[in-house]
Amino acid sequence: MNKTLLAVLTALALTACGQQQAAAPAEQPAPAAEQAAPVEQPAAETAAPAAEQPAAEIDHVKARQDAFKQVGEAMKTIGDVVKGDVAYDAEQFKAVVAQMQTAGAEAFQHFGEGTQGGNAKPELWANMADFEAGRDKMAAAVTALNEAAQTGDLNAIKPKMGDLGGSCKACHDAFKEKTN
Ligand code: HEC
Repeated sequence: MNKTLLAVLTALALTACGQQQAAAPAEQPAPAAEQAAPVEQPAAETAAPAAEQPAAEIDHVKARQDAFKQVGEAMKTIGDVVKGDVAYDAEQFKAVVAQMQTAGAEAFQHFGEGTQGGNAKPELWANMADFEAGRDKMAAAVTALNEAAQTGDLNAIKPKMGDLGGSCKACHDAFKEKTN
């Protein structure tokens, strides 16, 4: 009912506003909307949830965990290179940093309202601004690391690791359950 009312009101408003040209086209959607409404209503209970499912079915917890796994793997590779356990290859290193950037961005797509769960603490949703500030710190640290990686100089890269590692830890301490 509300939808119908809204459609009619909208149509009326459009008609009222655009008296010459807009009036004719604006009137047409109105009868159409009225016709659609009775059809929609019986279907509403069954069809509407079904239509929403593709979005609701995305497993946001799994999606962000998978993305964070990639962030973790990239972090390990980066750490190994910086420690000297793995030989530094400028091109490979740039690629790994780029992967982290992409995977990190992906992970943070999956913390919307209603995606509570996994190892994310409930506090996260009550402190979204802090969480987002933590996300931005990580993004800034990855950007700085990426810039250093472009120089191809491992000595430029090393000092950027502290901020990056710190950004992971700060957010995990606040918003991620300890899993090991
Ligand atoms: C702003 C917050 C935030 C930042 C920054 C952050 N993380 Fe996380 N991370 C989380 C949360 C929250 C989870 C738990 C997700 C879940 O289980 O739903 C998580 C989970 C993970 C996991 C576990 C994934 C799995 O297998 O379930 C890894 C690995 C990880 N993060 C690595 C990192 C690394 C490495 C960095 C830094 C380069 C980082 N994270 C930065 C919030 C953050």
